[in-house]
Amino acid sequence: MAEAIKGLLGQPKTLAPWLFYDAEGSLLFEQITALPEYYLSRTERKILTDYAPKIVSLAFGRHRVMVVELGAGTAVKTGIFLSELARRQGTVSYHPIDVSATALRAARLNIEASIPGITVSPQITDYTVEALNYARPPDTRVLLMYLGSSIGNFSPPDALDLLLKLRGELLLGDLILIGADRVKDKATLVSAYDDTAGVTAAFNLNVLRRLNREIGTDFRLSNFKHLTVWNPTESRIEMHLESKISQQVRIPASPENPQLEIQFVRGETIHTENSYKFSSAMMGSWLLQAGFTPIKEWSDADYLYSLTLAEIVSK
Ligand code: AVJ
Repeated sequence: MAEAIKGLLGQPKTLAPWLFYDAEGSLLFEQITALPEYYLSRTERKILTDYAPKIVSLAFGRHRVMVVELGAGTAVKTGIFLSELARRQGTVSYHPIDVSATALRAARLNIEASIPGITVSPQITDYTVEALNYARPPDTRVLLMYLGSSIGNFSPPDALDLLLKLRGELLLGDLILIGADRVKDKATLVSAYDDTAGVTAAFNLNVLRRLNREIGTDFRLSNFKHLTVWNPTESRIEMHLESKISQQVRIPASPENPQLEIQFVRGETIHTENSYKFSSAMMGSWLLQAGFTPIKEWSDADYLYSLTLAEIVSK
C-alpha cells in the first residue's frame, strides 16, 4: 500500500493495476470477461480450442512437455490445452502459478477431476518478483503459458525485464505460448474498456473503495468518473479515474507518513491501467529482444487476438 500512496502523490497520479483485484474486483473482472464488448477472453478461448492439436504438435517434438502457467487463475482455458497434451503424452505435469490461493485450489480440483494422467503442483507467488519453482521431470521441455494478454499491463521496458527474467529460469528448447490483444480500430478497443453495462467503470472505481477500506482514504466515488483513452502513439488503452470537481482527499497518518492531503483540480486523472495492444511485428520484436524465437502465431478469423509460440533456441 506504500506503493499506492506514492502513486497518488506523484505527478501525474497513478495506481498500479494489481490493486484492482481484491475480492470484489476479482468478481468484477470475471464479469468483464463475459461482456459482449470484451472480446478478448472468448476469442482467446476459441483460438486455443481450434488450434490446441496444432500447438501441441509443434511444442511436442522429440521431448515430453510439461506446462507452467503464469497467472493461471482457475485454469479454465488451459484445460482445453492440457487435455490435448495428456491425450498425446499419457501423463502431464502442470504447474499453475498465481497470487490467489483460492483460484489455485479451484484450478487443481477442476483439472485433476477432468483430465486423467495429470499431476498438478500449484505455486502461490507473484511471478514478476519471485522465482518459478517447478520440478522438471527428466528429458522434459517446459511450455510456459502466459495467457489473457496479461503481458499488456507492462510497459515495453518492464515487459522486457519480465521476459528476460522468465528466460533466465528456463532452459534451451523450452517454449512460451503468449496471448496478446491485437491493435484494431479505436471504437472496438475503447468499447471493450467502456462497456454499456458499466461493469468496467465499476471495476475501475472499485480501486478507490479498496483504498478507503485498506488505507483509510476518504475518496468519494461519486466525485470520480471512469475514463477510457486509446493512445495510438504508445499503442495502448489507458484507464483513468477523472476528478469531476476540484477536491481534496485525505490520507490518514501512518508510521511512514504524516497525514497528507491529495489535491485534485477538476478534470485531473489518476492513471490506473495500461493495456498494450500488439501487431504481429511488435510481439515478435518483444520476444526476440528477450531471447525467445517466434515459431508460429495463431489468430481468430477477424484478427482480434493472437497466440504466439516461441522457443529458446540458444542459451
Ligand atoms: C487482465 C490486464 C488482460 O487489460 O484487458 C480488463 C484487465 N482491465 N478490463 C486487460 C482489464 C479492464 C485486462 N488484463
